[in-house]
Amino acid sequence: MRALSFLGEQESPWGEEFDNEFSCTHVLCKVAGEPAGALRIRWFANFAKIERLSVRSEFRTGGKAGARHIADALAGFAVELIRRKGYRQMVGHAQKRLYPFWKRHGYQATGEEIVYADHTYVLMVGHLEPHPQAIGVDADPMVVIRPEGRWDEPGPFDLSMMRPATCPHRDRRPREARAA
Ligand SMILES: CC(C)(COP(=O)(O)OP(=O)(O)OC[C@H]1O[C@@H](n2cnc3c(N)ncnc32)[C@H](O)[C@@H]1OP(=O)(O)O)[C@@H](O)C(=O)NCCC(=O)NCCS
Repeated sequence: MRALSFLGEQESPWGEEFDNEFSCTHVLCKVAGEPAGALRIRWFANFAKIERLSVRSEFRTGGKAGARHIADALAGFAVELIRRKGYRQMVGHAQKRLYPFWKRHGYQATGEEIVYADHTYVLMVGHLEPHPQAIGVDADPMVVIRPEGRWDEPGPFDLSMMRPATCPHRDRRPREARAA
């Protein structure tokens, strides 16, 4: 997805495009099972940062797949996830032409702009309303350990609660130490 738009269309060097891939949440939008768009979210102590929004050209509004507003669907999903995880702030760097789009999703320009990776970026901050079901430190422990983003349905560990605590483990200590 990102190789098509950022490397293909925007001629980004690989090293500028692919970084931090294993320290973020990737969000993928599929249309009829086909990967159509994506973005990623990076997490910091008191803010989250939405990055790398890209929609395959055929799935863009007006594209031959007839899809509409996938970018809005991705951005909306990301902001909801950020709020559900209890964040009240998000940071963003928008390619200048797309600031109106990000403004519609709760971002405000800080007034600063920076140039890197061949683009002028508008620096943005979004102040978020608390999510009514935000997952906080006092959340149900079983909810906290459910698969990311699927906090409202039982996960594998919910089902495991039917098993008794038999405490299976491999004890490599010498026999005499175990008796201790
Ligand atoms: C930007 C992108 C995600 C939009 O995808 P999309 O699903 O087709 O989105 P839409 O057509 O519904 O556009 C969403 C908004 O962005 C605006 N937009 C889209 N392409 C634009 C462009 N090339 N220049 C300026 N604005 C643009 C649209 O006007 C629309 O705003 P509106 O709803 O207020 O009219 C897609 O064009 C893309 O992947 N581009 C390459 C990667 C990129 O530039 N990512 C953004 C980095 S900040």
